[in-house]
Amino acid sequence: MSINQHNLYDFDIHIAEIYDMQENNTKDVEFLRNFLHGKTRLNILEPFCGTGRMLIPLALEGHSILGIDQSQAMLQLAQKKIKDLSDDVQKRIRLQWADVTVENWPSGYDLVILGFNCFYELATAEEQELCIYQASRACKPGAYIYVDNDHMEGELDAAWQDMNHKYVYLSGICKDGYQIKNTRKTIWFDVKQRLARFERRYQITSPEGIVTEYQFTQQKHPVSKVEVQTWLEKHGFEILTVYGDHSGNPYHHNSPKAIFWARKR
Ligand SMILES: C[S@@+](CC[C@H](N)C(=O)[O-])C[C@H]1O[C@@H](n2cnc3c(N)ncnc32)[C@H](O)[C@@H]1O
Repeated sequence: MSINQHNLYDFDIHIAEIYDMQENNTKDVEFLRNFLHGKTRLNILEPFCGTGRMLIPLALEGHSILGIDQSQAMLQLAQKKIKDLSDDVQKRIRLQWADVTVENWPSGYDLVILGFNCFYELATAEEQELCIYQASRACKPGAYIYVDNDHMEGELDAAWQDMNHKYVYLSGICKDGYQIKNTRKTIWFDVKQRLARFERRYQITSPEGIVTEYQFTQQKHPVSKVEVQTWLEKHGFEILTVYGDHSGNPYHHNSPKAIFWARKR
C-alpha cells in the first residue's frame, strides 16, 4: 500500500474545476502530436488522465482512448466535458476509476501516455517503476510510450529542502463562488534518496462563508532522467529520443524536462 493515502485532487469537486482553470497550457499536447503524424486511429491508454486535458484533443483527432484516474472529482469533470462532444468522439473515450499503482492495466495498446509530471503524484521510485512495468505489459509489440516529467538529477534540489517555504497550488475561486486554498509545506526530506514529504492543507469556503478544512501528508520522489531511462530499458522499451522541453530541444543536463519517446521491442 502506498505511503500516500490521499489523492490531492479528490477532496472536493471544486478542486477539479480549479485544476482546469490553472492547467490550460496545451504545449505538451501539441508536442505529443508531432510524434503522431501519419498514425491514425491509435488505441491509447492514458493513466493519470485527470480531467481529460490531453485525452480529449487526441480523441477529437480520431484516436480511441482509455483514461484511468484515482480521483472521482477529476473524472466527473472529464465526463462533463466529454458529454458536450459529438457521439462519434464520445464513443472513442472510456474512463476508468482506479489507483494505477494497485490495479493491473489493460493490454493491447498502440500508445501509453505518462504525461504532465504524473510521476510526481507518486511516493516512491518503486511505484514509478511499477508504472513503466505496467505500461510495458499494456503495449503491443512495436507500440509507443510517451513519458514526460520535470527534470532533477543527483541529490534533492535545495528548493525541496526548504522547510519554511509555503507553496500554494490549486487555489482560486470557482464559478459558483467557492474559494479553494491549498498549501504545501515540507516536513521531511532525504537528500540522497531524493524523497520529500509535505503537509498539505485545503481550506474550502462556500459562498455562504462555511469553511471546510482538510489536512494530510503527501510524499514525492522527483524522478530522474537516469531512473526513467533505466526502467524503460529494463522493461523492454527501446528509447528513440529524449527531449529537454516541449519545443523539441534535445535533452541536456540543464534541461527543464526529461521527455522520453520510446518503442516496445
Ligand atoms: C497533475 S494531474 C494530471 C492530469 C492529466 N494527465 C493532465 O495532463 O492534465 C495528475 C492526476 O493523476 C491522478 N492520480 C494521482 N495518483 C494516482 C493514482 N495512484 N492512480 C491513478 N491516478 C492518480 C490524479 O487524480 C490527477 O488527476
